[in-house]
Amino acid sequence: MSAAVTGLTCSVCGTHVGIDSPFSWKCPNASDGDRKHVLRFDVPIEAFRPTDDVNPFLAYRSYLAVDAFGAAIGLEDAMRASIIRELDDAVKAAHGVGFTRTPMHRADELSEALGFTADGGIWIKDETHNVAGSHKARHLFTELVHLVMAERAGMTPWTSVDDRPVLAIASCGNAAIAASTLAAAVKWPIAVHVPTATAPSLIETLESLNADIRVCPRLDSDPAGDPCVLRFREAVAAGAIPFGVQGTENAWCLDGGQTIGWEILKEIGHRVDRIFIQVGGGAFASSVASAMRLVGTHPKLHAVQAEGCAPLARAWEHAMSSGGTRDAGARWTECMWAWESEPHSLADGILDDETYDWIGILDGMSDTDGSPVVASEDNVVRAFEMAHSHTDIDVSPTGSSGLAGLLQIRDAIGNDERIVVVFSGVAR
Ligand SMILES: Cc1ncc(COP(=O)(O)O)c(C=O)c1O
Ligand SMILES: [Zn+2]
Repeated sequence: MSAAVTGLTCSVCGTHVGIDSPFSWKCPNASDGDRKHVLRFDVPIEAFRPTDDVNPFLAYRSYLAVDAFGAAIGLEDAMRASIIRELDDAVKAAHGVGFTRTPMHRADELSEALGFTADGGIWIKDETHNVAGSHKARHLFTELVHLVMAERAGMTPWTSVDDRPVLAIASCGNAAIAASTLAAAVKWPIAVHVPTATAPSLIETLESLNADIRVCPRLDSDPAGDPCVLRFREAVAAGAIPFGVQGTENAWCLDGGQTIGWEILKEIGHRVDRIFIQVGGGAFASSVASAMRLVGTHPKLHAVQAEGCAPLARAWEHAMSSGGTRDAGARWTECMWAWESEPHSLADGILDDETYDWIGILDGMSDTDGSPVVASEDNVVRAFEMAHSHTDIDVSPTGSSGLAGLLQIRDAIGNDERIVVVFSGVAR
């Protein structure tokens, strides 16, 4: 099995990082004062021949950057596969669910209700039964594999598991649960930075996973920005490992996220016309875009945001008028800045005021003749209602918000088109 990914390159400043560098979370030019950098994996064109394993990290292993990293630091093929298996077994043993290919089915009732013909329709990729109840654990798993591979190769500053530095994340939702779930499975300590208004039910879940919960009120001395992110960065500066789902803080989340795109494409590949992906921080859609690029299949990619917080659609417009929507990374300040008004939507998991991983999404939409879609709040609500009345998936409003994008532009879609939406998280 050959390792495909050859390195990482910053989409903003062009700095190259070797694939054999451990802990290559961020562009070397990123700093606390300048987070406008994001590394992207360099992938040579290659035939796409995944193996047939129910575990996506094994099925697509040779296309994962983390496998190329493991090979570059001297781990044999069998050792790399066994690290993935071992970690998956630990997740399964601790939580009863491991990583397996998630189901994707044509939603017949929903397709009919929305006027699609028998030849077209809506296929739902169901992530609600994935590890920790959302797609987020896929992103985090490659960060964990990276760490364990570095340990196995003797490249970490710590030599015993008892001396492992703490993992850190800033999140008040599915990412926090997924990160704590993986950390608990391998008994790696984790600090979760959450806002003061965090729901008691989430706190309870995180407590049950033994996370060190750090509630982060805004301090008088704080600069602008989310205090959870500020405290998270302080923890990382003090030696913690960034273990979140924003490519700007840890690019390796963009690796595992690709598995969801590959599973979709493997299942219906050339027969899909459009994919709608809901966008918060953007790691999810950016990963799906790079998965499609690697396979060379080009359904139109639509990145969906709610009208109450839509910085990505704004970036698309500004990129278009400032030199084009492709390769817009060097134009970050002209294109992407925080949403000014208080973000709001029933789909509260996609209210990141800035789309950190916007560059890869713009490239993906440009390559596929896709476009951003801003869903009205009515359509966010209607998508959630239709998901529950026309499917038996217990999805959250955030998880069904890609469908809101489809509702928003239904009139522009042919009745025989084949559409994929991802129900990305379970209702809690
Ligand atoms: C269920 C669910 N879907 C989609 C998203 C959006 O993912 P991203 O922040 O990577 O854009 C989130 C983020 O929290 C989520 O929890
Ligand atoms: Zn850079």
